[in-house]
Amino acid sequence: MCGIVGYTGARPAAPLLLEGLKRLEYRGYDSAGIALVEDGRIEVHKAPGRIAALERELGQNLPPGHTGIAHTRWATHGAPSTANAHPHTDCGGTLALIHNGIIENAGLLRTALIRRGHVFRSETDTEVLAHLIEEAHAKGGALVGAVAGALQQVEGTYGIAVVSTREPDTIVAARRGSPLLVAIGSGENFIASDASAVLAQTRSVVYLDDGEIAVVRPGDYRIVDLDTAEKEKAVSRVDWDLAKIERGGYAHFMLKEIMEQPESLRNTLRGRVLEEEGTSRLGGLNLSDEQLLQVNRIVFTACGTSWHSALIGEYMMEELARIPSEVEYASEFRYRNPIVDERTLVVGISQSGETADTLAALREAKRRGARTLGIVNVVGSTIAREVDGGIYLHAGPEIGVASTKAFTSQIVALALLTLTMGRVRALSILQGREVARALLRLPELVERILAKAADVERIAERVMRATNVLYLGRGYNFPVALEGALKLKEISYIHAEGYPAAEMKHGPIALIDDLMPVVFLAPRDAVYQKVVSNVEEVKARGGRVVAVVTEGDTGLARLADHQIEVPETLDLLTPVLTVLPLQLLAYYIAVRRGCDVDQPRNLAKSVTVE
Ligand code: G6P
Repeated sequence: MCGIVGYTGARPAAPLLLEGLKRLEYRGYDSAGIALVEDGRIEVHKAPGRIAALERELGQNLPPGHTGIAHTRWATHGAPSTANAHPHTDCGGTLALIHNGIIENAGLLRTALIRRGHVFRSETDTEVLAHLIEEAHAKGGALVGAVAGALQQVEGTYGIAVVSTREPDTIVAARRGSPLLVAIGSGENFIASDASAVLAQTRSVVYLDDGEIAVVRPGDYRIVDLDTAEKEKAVSRVDWDLAKIERGGYAHFMLKEIMEQPESLRNTLRGRVLEEEGTSRLGGLNLSDEQLLQVNRIVFTACGTSWHSALIGEYMMEELARIPSEVEYASEFRYRNPIVDERTLVVGISQSGETADTLAALREAKRRGARTLGIVNVVGSTIAREVDGGIYLHAGPEIGVASTKAFTSQIVALALLTLTMGRVRALSILQGREVARALLRLPELVERILAKAADVERIAERVMRATNVLYLGRGYNFPVALEGALKLKEISYIHAEGYPAAEMKHGPIALIDDLMPVVFLAPRDAVYQKVVSNVEEVKARGGRVVAVVTEGDTGLARLADHQIEVPETLDLLTPVLTVLPLQLLAYYIAVRRGCDVDQPRNLAKSVTVE
């Protein structure tokens, strides 16, 4: 949801800012822009579309300047035009500003500013900030004071960075609700939405918290609050491997991330499975056995793909740990006057750890006295820092906008949590061992499926012209049907729906004809026979069936037009396997349809606005 990066130091800023922007492009790609301070003036360049368009606009001779800020936009207020692209400037062109978030009282502030003589050049909510800072700055004093004064007038969320001709080597950055960090170099410093933008330059970062402002100059930085009182902040080290945020020979990040799943799952499992004891060791939960026993209800909350893994978590937790569980869309939960108390465990699941609704839902739960856990991939992200405890996925950076490896790691993390919760209750050591062993085998089974990607590619050829696709599954594979449909619509723009297989009779069956592919998740699990009956119902109406079945299964061969086999595992872990062909199917269909797989239209990887 918009990426921001800034640099101040001895090197020319433009190349470093463009490199940072490319790393952040997953956060939005509606327009891009850059502002550089040089010789007492600010030079701004912007272009609608991708960063490549901005590069074309800049040409060979990059603008000079050793201090600058840059932005890649995911549009909220105003179309993705050049005028609405960031950076935005004040009336006199003495300062430039970039923003990630939404200023909720922008309308009122804008009217008041226009009345006071300010001239607006864009339709964005952001531009009010540039004019508010301009007014405060005109009264004299340092830029940081002007920024703090302006921020005290706005409602909503922001991660901002500001440069001014009056303090040519300073960047002032501030955060409320949108991620931001200061990255510390030698004689140079950066600000960025996340560490991937600066990883090639430095690994020392200071994560800003809400209500903090950073004043960053080449040789130093300081963090203050909105009253400009100094704050002490710890420096963290980012240990992500740079190669992991490169495509490494794959045509797309999405394919790379699909293929990485044996490794990402090994990393999620590493050191956490206690096979003999039939349980898991989760160092970050921060819950004693006694506290685990006090939990009498679990609420999972998440968005998008993470919400689908939450559904699987609910099924696991009720089946094995016997704890009443439910799943809430974070965006609904936070505004619903939810019932939680100190015995409720609220588990937020988020790849990025920055999704605004998930973060707000967890804050609301905490405010109401619940204990909160985060199942998060990005180390040091806001959710990871704010929850009482959690499980890191350790899946490595996920760049493709469509989530893949994070999903399978989330399921595994949920299974580990279920083991811990279950074993302090009634889950027997034998059952625990069975799950532990099955978990440890998963990476190898995943490898086996991915080795047959070419089979899925052939099926993609047959499905790619469909205009609607239905995905059906039951039990643990109902959420997989939802996820398969989401993957397809996200990246190939084919309308797809996921449904509980039996529920199909209450609506979607009316859509079925010989043009409509129906993808069935039908591993040999407790509901297999029921699913076979649902396949019969579809075939009876001429539907084309793609079935994901267990290796060696012959029951569906006569009904399915295409069959994809996955190895056998415990019912609760089948989603980790059955989702793989669906990820590949969506990928190959999107590629064949010429879609931009890693950056599908209108989407963003990290949704930091509500
Ligand atoms: C966006 C992404 C999805 C993701 C969802 C939740 O919609 O495009 O891939 O599942 O946000 O993100 P999170 O980082 O909280 O898991």
